[in-house]
Amino acid sequence: MATTTTQMSGAEIVDLCRKHTVFEWSAQGSVDPIPMARAKGVYFWTPEGKRYIDFNSQLMCVNIGHGDERVVRAIQEQAATLPYANPFMATEARAKLGAKLSQIAPGDIDVFFFTNGGADANENAIKVARQYTGRHKILSFYRSYHGGTAGAMMLTGDPRRWAAEPGMAGVVHVLNPYHGIQRGWDTAEQALATLEETIQLEGPSTIAAFFLEPVTGTNGVLIPPDGYLQGVRELCTKYGILMVADEVMSGFGRTGQWFAIDNWGIVPDLLTMAKGLTSAYVPLGAVGLRRPIADHFKDKVFYGGLTYNSHPLGCATALAVLQVYEDDRLIENARRMGAVMKQLLNDLQTKHATVGAVRSIGLFGLVELVKDRQSMEPLAPFNGTSEPMKRLSRLFREGGLYTFVRWNTFFTNPPLIVTEDELRQGFAIIDKCLSAL
Ligand SMILES: Cc1ncc(COP(=O)(O)O)c(C=O)c1O
Repeated sequence: MATTTTQMSGAEIVDLCRKHTVFEWSAQGSVDPIPMARAKGVYFWTPEGKRYIDFNSQLMCVNIGHGDERVVRAIQEQAATLPYANPFMATEARAKLGAKLSQIAPGDIDVFFFTNGGADANENAIKVARQYTGRHKILSFYRSYHGGTAGAMMLTGDPRRWAAEPGMAGVVHVLNPYHGIQRGWDTAEQALATLEETIQLEGPSTIAAFFLEPVTGTNGVLIPPDGYLQGVRELCTKYGILMVADEVMSGFGRTGQWFAIDNWGIVPDLLTMAKGLTSAYVPLGAVGLRRPIADHFKDKVFYGGLTYNSHPLGCATALAVLQVYEDDRLIENARRMGAVMKQLLNDLQTKHATVGAVRSIGLFGLVELVKDRQSMEPLAPFNGTSEPMKRLSRLFREGGLYTFVRWNTFFTNPPLIVTEDELRQGFAIIDKCLSAL
């Protein structure tokens, strides 16, 4: 049951937040936030006790679910012992977390630089790649998001980049294997040919790295055709380009493996992470480096730093969260519940003519809505919304389901602790809302 933990009403909280704080990626006059007072498991509540099932793990990050007391205790203990140490210090939490991540990360990725979150993990990966290769260009996909800071914003291929241009020079965007619901997918061979042609035209010797989300997140849960990532690995090796897997969203069990790239058995040169690393209980990100790249910085200075690098509170939280993934077998649960979710998504597609496509891997899922199945015209345009999509958002909210609705898509990304019952509850709300639409 919800117990109110706020002194203010939901309406008072919303009013004051709107008056004195800025909401991201929004025209401030049109934001309509849900006042959130407390959360537990897969649910959260408003101050007045309205319950929502969290079908997006907030921002695809609270992977272990809300309010895990083991993690709360670890945070309290670290805060009481040593809440902060500067980055030139060596702390136990930092030591143990580096060692633990080296066991989890693919291949010989066993050295880590800790950051505040995902965007600055990518910023530092850019620095590592440029300093290691001596080259300056960076490739990334058009359908991608890599963060809101200056460099990561330029890597970002989607329209969130436009307002920040012109920015850091040297970024080249590559077409994804996916071209939207009407044109569909390239084969792995076609997409690899596009990539190699881009590399040739740009000049292989000028390209430091290719940043990619192994499974693209907010741009549509794009699961690459089999053979594509293996081919990217081969092209990167062939041309001396670092392959950088941005696993900020896809990491830590979301796809049913520790990292999405593990689904294809590939070892990238650098791996960036955040979100699920601490399940967002406190902020922390990291760049993982393969041993030979880390060794490059043994006698060369690594030019990068942050006041909150290797923050003890973040490191201690991550250690406790990693323990929860293991103790509660959450990666396995993501695989098992992922199979149930795939069926539930397919059922939606069978039942509702507006469902043009469903995609999922583990508990990373998405529905693309269309006007009709003949034209496959999206229910909202690229980079836009529409009355039906706005209405669907309202219906979800009224029905007590929280998820991410973007353009003509909505996501199904519950915490990895979700049970079959809870999954069915969420999908029953979705089914009802789609019928009402
Ligand atoms: C793939 C990916 N990379 C980077 C980021 C940026 O992370 P942060 O918002 O923690 O800076 C995100 C955030 O959603 C992301 O999804």
